[in-house]
Amino acid sequence: MNHIKACCASIARTGFGILQISEAMLEDYKKIVDGYSTISPATKASFSFANDTDGFFPFGAEYSSLEDQPDLCERFCYWPAHSSKRKAFEFTRSEFFAAVEAFEQRVSALAQELMDGVCAEFGATSLTALRAASYLQLCVYGASSGPGERQFAQDPHEDGHMLSFIKPTRDGLVLVRGSSLEPVRLLENEVAILAGSLLTELSDYAIPAAYHAVLTPRTPMTRSSLIYFVNPDPEQALTGFFRHRPIDLKSAINARHIGFGNQPLQLT
Ligand SMILES: [Fe+2]
Repeated sequence: MNHIKACCASIARTGFGILQISEAMLEDYKKIVDGYSTISPATKASFSFANDTDGFFPFGAEYSSLEDQPDLCERFCYWPAHSSKRKAFEFTRSEFFAAVEAFEQRVSALAQELMDGVCAEFGATSLTALRAASYLQLCVYGASSGPGERQFAQDPHEDGHMLSFIKPTRDGLVLVRGSSLEPVRLLENEVAILAGSLLTELSDYAIPAAYHAVLTPRTPMTRSSLIYFVNPDPEQALTGFFRHRPIDLKSAINARHIGFGNQPLQLT
């Protein structure tokens, strides 16, 4: 598909690209962002697994830069790696959860295709089994989170993963380029792809990490963003794109994960 190849070339050059998603993915996306408001506080409280960074997390549980300046959102995380441990929960039989599972399946296949294409841009070996350590995250910024004294609902940062697929319900996402903020504008069927510093390391610093932030809206409004974080399989031996030397990203994955206020990753 030509648009995938164009996106891979753009990521390889700038660390940023835009990709179209299918009608089926868009339908699941809508079910997820619309369905969140129907989930009860009791379900959110019981389906929360901080040690796995999985399930629901209350407002302000993660930060992007400073610990006392949390991201102004609630979160829901879904890891296929942990899904077998959650089967006893009634919530996993909900329409919301079914849409999450379906979206993750499709986006993980897309991510594999995209990373294969990025590796091909450099003549590098493809990465295997990206899905094993990758996860989906829904961020929900409530109407009460703006306007405030803060310029950003999420401070400038890079995600510290290999790639991030980001699909927000409205504007607010900006790329931080030097001192300028560049709004990310997407059509309804498009998703933004941002390189993280793991890809910078893997590419021997050829691909820049895409620094970004979320602006606090001028008037109070709800905003959601569905993100798929792509990590390498911890079991795969990796070598840099140019120097062809072994690169150990395991410790880097965890250092960045903890740096956002999360517990260390529990991946077997
Ligand atoms: Fe981010």
